[in-house]
Amino acid sequence: MALEYHFGIDFGTTNSSTVGYYRASGDAQWVKMRFEDEEGLPTPSFVAIDYETGEVHTGRDAWNRRMELSSTCECIPSVKSLLDSGWKKTIAGKEWTACDVATQVFLALKRTAYEGLGAEIASATVAIPIGFSPSKREQVRRAAARAGIAIESFISEPTAAYFANYSELKSCETVAMFDWGGGTLDVSVVENDSGRLTELATNGIKLGGDDIDRKVALKIHSKVAREKGQSVSFDDMPLVAQDRMLVKAERAKRVLSDDDDTSVFLGSYGELGAFRESLSYEWFEAIIEPEVNRAMKCLEDTISGSGVGLANIDRVVMIGGSSNMRPLLEHMEDKYGDKLFFPDETMWSISDGAARLSINPGMYYAAQDLGLILSDGSYFPILHKGDKVKGWSSSTSFGLVDHSEDARLIFAGSRDLDRASDRYWVFTVPQYGFLQEKIILESSFDDNLVFRATAKSSMRSNKYSSTWEYDRLKCYYRLSELGL
Ligand SMILES: Nc1ncnc2c1ncn2[C@@H]1O[C@H](COP(=O)(O)OP(=O)(O)OP(=O)(O)O)[C@@H](O)[C@H]1O
Ligand SMILES: [Mg+2]
Repeated sequence: MALEYHFGIDFGTTNSSTVGYYRASGDAQWVKMRFEDEEGLPTPSFVAIDYETGEVHTGRDAWNRRMELSSTCECIPSVKSLLDSGWKKTIAGKEWTACDVATQVFLALKRTAYEGLGAEIASATVAIPIGFSPSKREQVRRAAARAGIAIESFISEPTAAYFANYSELKSCETVAMFDWGGGTLDVSVVENDSGRLTELATNGIKLGGDDIDRKVALKIHSKVAREKGQSVSFDDMPLVAQDRMLVKAERAKRVLSDDDDTSVFLGSYGELGAFRESLSYEWFEAIIEPEVNRAMKCLEDTISGSGVGLANIDRVVMIGGSSNMRPLLEHMEDKYGDKLFFPDETMWSISDGAARLSINPGMYYAAQDLGLILSDGSYFPILHKGDKVKGWSSSTSFGLVDHSEDARLIFAGSRDLDRASDRYWVFTVPQYGFLQEKIILESSFDDNLVFRATAKSSMRSNKYSSTWEYDRLKCYYRLSELGL
């Protein structure tokens, strides 16, 4: 019997996962599948490439052997953070870009799905962090395509997690999703108004577990260097030594979420030799205080940007591995108390929510306006709240009010945009006089959910056009259409 499949992928900095839904034709009910690795967990986003042979190691086994692999392989534990960094390496005669490495993560996900349940992932909806740039979206799309996975659509990570936990959150009117992973913190305030789910405010910062690991590693390094009377910096240590220290720092961080102390031992740490260091919870808490404060502030700012006020936030939903850090939990308890909510199986929430959107693609609508402030100060809407986003486009023309060569456009329509510096857009047009010349503005959303407005003068060829991009559109979804 023919089966209909839908897949959602969480392409995470540290861990990636796939959830699938299938049903036989004619069945009303979808069956959910989680594609677990051999330990019942998501797939580490870890890629190791052998310096000599070019052999690629991925998945849980490679992650478990990462200390050992670090001496013979280039280890890339967080390729998502390398997209857009210009990272490029020649390994065993082949040039690798971050996009090539990301392809290996998608191939690992594909393999896990195939080995586990015989499912072939040909297309999927993929979750991405808030503020993931258009070029990163394009690289993820390319990386997935090279692994044979066509990306149907993107969805923001915290909103996907909301969909997956909807049955537990449906009694709430407004919730704040707090997703702190290995690379980014993503916050979204979601309102449920009689089955209409609206992203009221979203916010993301590039700060995650990897940054904490690095900080812990640097602090241990300076303790060891001091005790051994040496002045070498962490960055000047051999790469193998740095990798090993980072692995130990990550482990110590997790242990200190439960225990009051731990110790870190390395039998060989470059020129500093062997060492053992004892670490206390108080020490850890003190060194990561700035990061915890930044995360708390990101959440507070998003709640205040939503305009509903803290009293109207019914739950603060904690997901992502870094949300387990005890110093964070202590601050969260103090501030949000019994509003805190810890869903089960948070590791699968994001891919699950993305898969649900895949079942009903394109069912998202603009939850904000987007328009221009005109020279007389009035607001001219381009995109209207409620417009269906997929396939949306519009064409508008404006007259010029003076003979200036610069056309100044100011975008507006949402609280975040009204405060952002990138809302101002100046582009130069030839001077033909305001009576003859028109500015034509073509606006649309591409497949990566990026709004693009291209302006050009009616007196000049397309070569002289200029484009403004906006990747923070807030959407709303209708529950009935998502089948939640
Ligand atoms: N008990 C714990 N205490 C502290 N940190 C933890 C714990 N468990 C996992 N982490 C950290 O959580 C991070 C991974 O979380 P998660 O899997 O949610 O990230 P991700 O989805 O891969 O990343 P992102 O969403 O930023 O792309 C790692 O930095 C890991 O060290
Ligand atoms: Mg994540």
